[in-house]
Amino acid sequence: MDLKAQAAAAALEYVQSGMMIGLGTGSTTSYFVDLLGEKLKQGELKDIHGVPTSEKTASRARALKIPLISLDEVSELDLVVDGADEVDPQLNLIKGLGRALLREKIVESHTSHFIVVVDDSKLVPKLGTKGPLPVEIVPYAAKAHIRWLNSLGCKAELWLETDGTPVTTDNGNYLAKCWFENGIPDAYALAEKLAWRAGIVEHGLFLGMASLVIVASPNGIRKLEAKR
Ligand code: A5P
Repeated sequence: MDLKAQAAAAALEYVQSGMMIGLGTGSTTSYFVDLLGEKLKQGELKDIHGVPTSEKTASRARALKIPLISLDEVSELDLVVDGADEVDPQLNLIKGLGRALLREKIVESHTSHFIVVVDDSKLVPKLGTKGPLPVEIVPYAAKAHIRWLNSLGCKAELWLETDGTPVTTDNGNYLAKCWFENGIPDAYALAEKLAWRAGIVEHGLFLGMASLVIVASPNGIRKLEAKR
């Protein structure tokens, strides 16, 4: 079985009938959504409601007949399962290369049980060493936001589709990719700067949010628990 599928299957062990579950976005989570749909179909799980983190995940869940609910109707989720682009030794994450970081962060703020599912290629000594940090920005004055992001010690660029148009999120915003040459020196300081800047909607630093990271590697499954 694919490593991402193995991580997703291990997360399914935490699901019980009657739960409200946040459904992440990306290729690893889509295995989880498929497995969840299968368990519901077989009657092995009942009375599950999912909160999707993107339109893509919502349509997949609907196709599998997983009942969906919105965060307007539920205050606390029993569990959220989502992938990540990078995981550091403190279980801080970069997320959002699946373009869904804003809704992911909103949904993941509504649980104390956020399970991250990854293959071992996502483990990094320091965030920002493997790929860019995605940042969601408002379309108004997009070039000005990119200019400001470039002043933060990274090479920032507007994320474009192959036809040259800006990538647009489910929320109607644009995305920037911020490349750090030797990783992000201080992720908490950067997150604070980004949070205060007008025009920056949200960023892909998910700090202190994961409670469990399930890592699939050729040697098997490892479960890394947050020390909090
Ligand atoms: C979605 O916006 C992202 O946060 C994904 O969770 C992340 O990109 C991981 O994706 P894969 O599971 O496809 O690697």
